[in-house]
Amino acid sequence: MFSNKMNYHDYLHIDQLLGCQELESERIGRKAHDEMLFIVVHQVYELWFKLILTEVSSVLEIFAQDRIDEKQMDLIVARLQRVVAIQKLLVDQVGIIETMTPLDFLEFRDMLIPASGFQSLQFRQLETVLGLKRENRLLYGQAAYEQSLKPDQRSEMVALEGKATLFERVEKWLERTPFLKMRGFDFWQAYKNTVENALKRDIEIIDQNPVLGAEDRARNKTMLEGTMASFRALFDEKEYNQARSAGEWRLSYQAVHAALLVQLYRDQPALQLPFRVITALQDMDEMFTTWRHRHALMAKRMLGSKVGTGGSSGYQYLRDATDRHKVFQDFFQLTTFFVPRSKLPKLPPEVERELGFHYSNSGNA
Ligand code: HEM
Repeated sequence: MFSNKMNYHDYLHIDQLLGCQELESERIGRKAHDEMLFIVVHQVYELWFKLILTEVSSVLEIFAQDRIDEKQMDLIVARLQRVVAIQKLLVDQVGIIETMTPLDFLEFRDMLIPASGFQSLQFRQLETVLGLKRENRLLYGQAAYEQSLKPDQRSEMVALEGKATLFERVEKWLERTPFLKMRGFDFWQAYKNTVENALKRDIEIIDQNPVLGAEDRARNKTMLEGTMASFRALFDEKEYNQARSAGEWRLSYQAVHAALLVQLYRDQPALQLPFRVITALQDMDEMFTTWRHRHALMAKRMLGSKVGTGGSSGYQYLRDATDRHKVFQDFFQLTTFFVPRSKLPKLPPEVERELGFHYSNSGNA
């Protein structure tokens, strides 16, 4: 079973790994000390991207099934949490590249043109697998993003765009959530009344707040009225679909209701794992945004207002992408409509029974 031939170096291909740091500055005879740091940090990122892609792809496979059992739900959570742990490291790694000063970067920066992180195939694959759509991407130099990739990578990317994304799989899974029809109990009407009362109460608070001037009061009220309108649209399929076409929501009408139910009644045993899945997806989305933000700040520090080596507007492009290239925003938006547990409509006992765990005499759940 054990082979004497197995060796650390061979198993991990250390020679290959350590043989692929070629300094461009050295090649042209003007060695820049910090280029080694620059190369190693990028290569390490690509390795972590590879692992994240492996984890996310395995989660996608589980979600592709028509029925997911509890054990696999637990696996989904564990793998997504692993991704989040890696992402935290990715954010921290920005601090390592920042030990290079902008002046030291200038020693070799121009040698890199027109290469750029924008050409990272794995990063684009990751965005696509998660669910970032071509139509939601910022244009880069007025060209489609794949034009920056190597010609042989472009068709691979386009093929990937045709496959189901994590967002779409999660949406289908949410749509299959039982308990959305509350056995004759008009849960959604009761919930709507509760939230509307809470929002009306917020308007009273604005009216009565002595600290607010007339202008602030009017602005806050307009914002709240907007929130109330979008909340009402959440329960009118036609209105919801209009808002969805306008890009205000991404999830389907049914999926958004399921996500709301899972989060509001997450203390119910049957909803605890789905709640953890949603939370892990939120964590992952937030960590991507955090990385983008951190990377944009670092680029600003390195470049000021210079354009990027790939030819983008530099910091401004990265900042706009941070705001725009998000996937699971609906989960964040839904929290606007949360109410305290004590105010939630009580579930009918038969629904509550179904959401609990029951054991028959045979011991089966
Ligand atoms: C001195 C350090 C760095 C600077 C100044 C920098 C700057 C930039 C700039 C300006 C862009 C926009 C595209 C362009 O015009 O080039 C960009 C994109 C990108 N960079 Fe960096 N970067 C640095 C390090 C890194 C590192 C260590 C990674 C890790 C893989 C990375 C990954 C990326 C990715 C994935 C993009 C595409 C982002 C998107 O399109 O949303 N960068 N970078």
